[in-house]
Amino acid sequence: MIKFTQIISAFINGIARSRVSLVGATMTTASFPILLVGIILELFGLIHNQYFGFVLYMFIAPAFILGLVLIFLGLFVFKGKEAVGLFTHEYLSEKLSVPENFIKVRKLIFLATSLTFVNVFVIILLAYTGYHYTESNEFCGQLCHTVMAPEYSTYSNSPHSRVKCVECHIGSGATWYAKSKLSGTRQLLAVVVKSYATPIETPVHGLRPARETCEECHRPELFHGDKLYIKDKFLSDEKNTHVQTVLLLKVGSGGYRGSEAHGIHWHVSEHNKITYTHSDWEREEINQVTLTKPDGTMVVFDKGTGEAPEGGQSYVREMDCIDCHNRPTHIYKSPDEALDEKLLLGAIPTELPFIRKIGYELITREYGSHDEAKNQIATELRGWYRLKYPEVVDNNMPLLDKAIAGVQAAYLENVWPTMKIGWNTYRSLLGHSDNSGCFRCHDDEHETSSGETISMDCEACHIILAEDEANPEILKTIQGI
Ligand code: HEC
Ligand code: HEC
Ligand code: HEC
Ligand code: HEC
Ligand code: HEC
Repeated sequence: MIKFTQIISAFINGIARSRVSLVGATMTTASFPILLVGIILELFGLIHNQYFGFVLYMFIAPAFILGLVLIFLGLFVFKGKEAVGLFTHEYLSEKLSVPENFIKVRKLIFLATSLTFVNVFVIILLAYTGYHYTESNEFCGQLCHTVMAPEYSTYSNSPHSRVKCVECHIGSGATWYAKSKLSGTRQLLAVVVKSYATPIETPVHGLRPARETCEECHRPELFHGDKLYIKDKFLSDEKNTHVQTVLLLKVGSGGYRGSEAHGIHWHVSEHNKITYTHSDWEREEINQVTLTKPDGTMVVFDKGTGEAPEGGQSYVREMDCIDCHNRPTHIYKSPDEALDEKLLLGAIPTELPFIRKIGYELITREYGSHDEAKNQIATELRGWYRLKYPEVVDNNMPLLDKAIAGVQAAYLENVWPTMKIGWNTYRSLLGHSDNSGCFRCHDDEHETSSGETISMDCEACHIILAEDEANPEILKTIQGI
């Protein structure tokens, strides 16, 4: 009877006789231990380095699988100079016809099956941890450092910093998973050959309809009523005077269980369908808005610009959350908002005379890089205060240093010269600054044939309770002071 060790040596001989198998076996043997340790570390979440997963899943794992494929190709297809005499059809049929050889073949099959089991097990583990890796924030946000730094950084400072990238960008279901991996591969290549656009183009036209992602967590049909909206600002005077704007924002609801859809979230009621045509990629120039009511009647609001301009393109889009909430997490502030936030939170001390004014001047200058901006802001601020308020520099250096850090942060968190992202590159549509946002439709210029317009009435959306007032009366009233 043939011993088990002989079978192993036959197997190894078979591999050794085929160069293809030999290469495969080397690759598999070399990558297996690294892969196993790597997968275990990943399974227990012991390593959080973006390059670790990248090397593991993009190089080691493919080498392992390719090695396996080569071994079998070598055994079955590409034989070496001598006949391999193992696993081939002739060999098997010859052996099987001789009863005493049968047992050897059985052992061979047993060996091959157990090896296959081990490999299948490793591959399943690999698929599992690999799936999680490609869905992780490290993969989406940190791997392509320079390219994703702005998106990752704004995301990390936003209310959604604990929502994973894939929950908005992919959502659930296999179709979008496959689509995203295809476009992801294209993006990875673009990073390698540096062919990506700077800045990355928006709006993202291939984004999954927001209602399939946002509504996994939010249900605007259950919103109700008005929301008190208070915006803190600071003036450019010596005292950096704190003022507030107070609105009663008609957030409204999408309508639920008999309550009518109303207010701002009326647009996303399941009974209203709003589509619009726009002639530009940015969706700023909206030509025609069509509202389809629950009974199927259509109301068309036309700006009178007619169809697409001569030779130009025309796009059609169904309105969803992103037509207002285009910046739910990659929030780029305006220079005013950035400074006001730092002043409000105390990151920039308001005691420092004119800091709002000088800070604004400094952060809105052009710089070539983050480092240059940091140095310039620090040098200029010190210089300015030494000249105008020497007592600050002499007696209160910590205050000035704090202000410098705050002003630098206001710049660094919103502007990325390397990706050509300046102030206002990515604007929010959630209001009507510069006649954008809501005013793309609500401009009293989109008209039906009977002369109705999409209203620009200020009170349709909010009631202004105070505008840029210091200590507004209305807040005192509400607080009972
Ligand atoms: C709360 C949902 C949400 C999360 C979480 C999220 N994104 Fe986005 N992201 C969006 C939306 C919406 C847009 C589209 C903006 C547009 O079309 O104007 C976008 C756009 C982008 C863009 C295009 C550039 C831009 O700023 O518009 C990139 C790149 C991007 N996201 C990467 C990421 C990465 C990386 C993560 C995780 C670190 C992430 N996103 C997490 C919602 C999200
Ligand atoms: C996986 C769950 C999840 C998804 C998906 C998600 N969000 Fe959120 N969102 C949250 C959570 C949690 C908060 C509350 C954060 C907090 O208040 O600290 C939030 C907060 C918000 C807020 C309030 C922000 C503020 O300033 O207080 C808005 C607006 C919002 N989300 C819009 C969206 C939009 C639009 C999308 C789709 C592009 C989306 N969300 C997708 C979980 C999610
Ligand atoms: C017509 C524009 C518009 C559309 C469409 C829209 N929203 Fe809003 N949403 C707003 C405005 C304006 C606010 C209030 C802004 C603020 O709090 O600063 C708001 C507030 C919110 C909030 C915070 C609510 C709160 O009480 O603080 C969430 C969450 C939200 N929207 C989710 C969604 C989701 C999900 C969708 C899509 C199904 C959606 N919105 C569609 C304009 C819109
Ligand atoms: C794509 C076009 C479009 C955009 C962008 C848009 N709206 Fe509208 N909105 C409409 C249309 C169409 C109506 C219905 C007008 C009518 O029937 O008279 C409407 C109606 C409304 C209403 C009245 C709802 C009711 O109770 O009947 C409010 C409030 C409103 N919009 C707020 C907003 C706000 C706030 C924004 C920006 C954050 C915004 N809209 C952006 C198209 C738009
Ligand atoms: C279609 C809805 C809509 C209409 C019409 C509208 N607004 Fe607004 N407005 C908004 C929304 C939404 C915001 C809140 C933006 C945000 O969340 O930052 C806002 C914010 C404001 C603010 C505070 C902005 C700030 O940052 O200080 C002022 C002031 C304002 N609106 C004035 C007006 C005036 C005046 C009119 C009438 C000519 C008007 N709005 C018409 C939707 C509207």
